Amino acid sequence: MKVLAIETSCDETAAAVVEDGRTALSSVVSSQTDLHAAFGGVVPEVASRAHLELVGPVVSQALEQAGAAPGDLAAVAATVGPGLVGSLLVGASAAKAYAWAWGLPFVGVNHMEGHLHAAFLEDPALHSPTVVLLVSGGHTMLVSMHDAPVAGQIEYRLLGETIDDAAGEAFDKVARFLGLGYPGGPAIEAIARDGAPDAVAFPRGLAGRGYDFSFSGLKTSVVRYMRSHPGARLADVAASFQEAVVDVLVAKTRRAAAEVGARAICIGGGVAANTALRERISAVCEQDGLAAFIPSRRMCTDNAAMIGATACYRLRVDGPTPLDAPVAPNLRLPLV
Ligand code: KG4
Ligand code: ZN
Repeated sequence: MKVLAIETSCDETAAAVVEDGRTALSSVVSSQTDLHAAFGGVVPEVASRAHLELVGPVVSQALEQAGAAPGDLAAVAATVGPGLVGSLLVGASAAKAYAWAWGLPFVGVNHMEGHLHAAFLEDPALHSPTVVLLVSGGHTMLVSMHDAPVAGQIEYRLLGETIDDAAGEAFDKVARFLGLGYPGGPAIEAIARDGAPDAVAFPRGLAGRGYDFSFSGLKTSVVRYMRSHPGARLADVAASFQEAVVDVLVAKTRRAAAEVGARAICIGGGVAANTALRERISAVCEQDGLAAFIPSRRMCTDNAAMIGATACYRLRVDGPTPLDAPVAPNLRLPLV
């Protein structure tokens, strides 16, 4: 079963063809980063206009790379939320139009559920329960994935989430403040390579307490530190900031895995592309005897293959989505 999937929730226009929910036959991602860099962040109106121009060519490329024709497809899927409303509308409307024109079912997919499924495109064995750390520009949450009582279905439980900024948002805001450019995560990671992670003792938000996260105090601490130490080495500040974020993410994920009795830890979302985080999660899994699901970097950041994989699952469990279903900018994960 081949599914064409489209992802346009933020600033990447992406399309993919996924087979049987397991294999990405193609995954095309056209990034708009250069368009938004001049503004220091994503401009929603600019994003929707760019999606409109790119979605057709990106879909053609995904079909061509997969060697698939419309007649080979079983469904057309798109992200319907959460995300920027104008951006979501472009991808969802395009997918509905293809589905209608080709006489195929449409499947609306939750972007966060897509991130949860991304790792399993590369390593299909779900070790239930698995604790997933989902860290992107818009979200930071700890979720556990369990086999549901109905065979072949999965349940998600929310263990904790950020009470203010998302982890990626903290990277982006601190990078902008330090003049390192956009997107901030890769910029901070690059300069932090030459810095000392223990140079500045930045606070670890909500450390030791529950599974919720807080990053806005850390961001304020960086601003205060730079104002009181104008000659500080940027590499040291960036490395110390990154260390503070990674410390909290890893400590809470590890504790959650122990409490849930998890057999595996999985990471997803753009911040999961961060090398320090990937190395620390791998080390914890090795020490605690857990399987580690660390997707390739291109599977961590936004892509349509993860939407296609989730669409196959949703089509099996829920059936098609009606063509008049709206997009949902604030869509939440379906939790038990
Ligand atoms: O999942 P994603 O591609 O888009 C959203 O759904 O938000 O995540 C984008 C976020 C941005 O905040 C970006 O700065 C961050 O992921 N990011 C990173 C790295 N690469 C991307 N953060 C830290 N280190 C990285 N290497
Ligand atoms: Zn995302």
